[in-house]
Amino acid sequence: MPIVTSTEMFKKAYAGGYAIGAFNVNNMEIVQGITEAAKEVESPLILQVSAGARKYAKHVYLMKLIEAAVEDTGLPICVHLDHGADFDICKSCVDGGFSSVMIDGSSRSFEENIAVTRRVVEYAHDHGVVVEGELGRLEGVEDDVKVSAADSSYTDPAQVEEFVQRTGVDSLAIAIGTSHGAYKFKPGQKPQLRFDILEEVSRRLPGFPIVLHGSSSVLPEYVETVNRFGGSMPDAVGIPEDMLRQAAKMAVCKINIDSDLRLGFTAAVRQHLAENPSHFDPRQYLTPARDNIREIVKRKIVKVLGSDHKI
Ligand code: G3H
Ligand code: 13P
Ligand code: ZN
Repeated sequence: MPIVTSTEMFKKAYAGGYAIGAFNVNNMEIVQGITEAAKEVESPLILQVSAGARKYAKHVYLMKLIEAAVEDTGLPICVHLDHGADFDICKSCVDGGFSSVMIDGSSRSFEENIAVTRRVVEYAHDHGVVVEGELGRLEGVEDDVKVSAADSSYTDPAQVEEFVQRTGVDSLAIAIGTSHGAYKFKPGQKPQLRFDILEEVSRRLPGFPIVLHGSSSVLPEYVETVNRFGGSMPDAVGIPEDMLRQAAKMAVCKINIDSDLRLGFTAAVRQHLAENPSHFDPRQYLTPARDNIREIVKRKIVKVLGSDHKI
């Protein structure tokens, strides 16, 4: 099974009322934890790479790790650029073997977003690569970009048909109240998603795959472990898993998860080193970190995405 695009995955997910997990990868243990989980429960997968991940690990290392995972597991895996900021990074990922790229023009004006997205679509489609665009701005932190609550905005459903038609994008990320990072809602604040916007978007774009970013649930057991073993994370509330499940049954075909994996990885490393202060072989503390990634991804696939046994 070679690296695939998300086209077939999204078609089946839309029709079947489930979503594909798009998990961020930065190193070998993360790639292995995610793909071992997907193999176990027979789920298709999107592995996504941010600009920060490319800077940390180098494009070629991540690409080779993912190729190794495809060979090892035989899974259909789509390799996706997460939050491409401009044409150049999208082109570099298309040229470097990715099967999908996101051009994130959400901080630009409507017309500028359309122009840069259209340019990426033309190049990517010429090379057999699919493109995700974004309309509406999510609150939160990604790499060096921090979007405040005041600057964030829900997607305007009245813009989506024109955007999709003029750009030719294959999927669309929308803002309905999810946000990036580990601090999505304040303690005591009731998490809410604008399902009315999602419904209106899907009414205007029948059958078209919608993407949700910022969809970690900030699993409390891992926050608690981090803090029990020397961390000092403030209490945080993520996106409730049942809300994500509901979105997956609607037009949402791709759900992005990164912070929950970071949290699980760090919780394991902290706990292992605190309980085994004499250990200094990285394999000793990276083994439980990889185990946590595998358990979290399995839980997401079965409980949130519904993509198990869909191969
Ligand atoms: O949405 C952003 C992802 O969590 C990736 O984060 O840009 O720090 O690698 P990063
Ligand atoms: P989280 O920070 O909620 O995991 O979101 C990740 C994401 O949207 C990557 O694009
Ligand atoms: Zn994102």
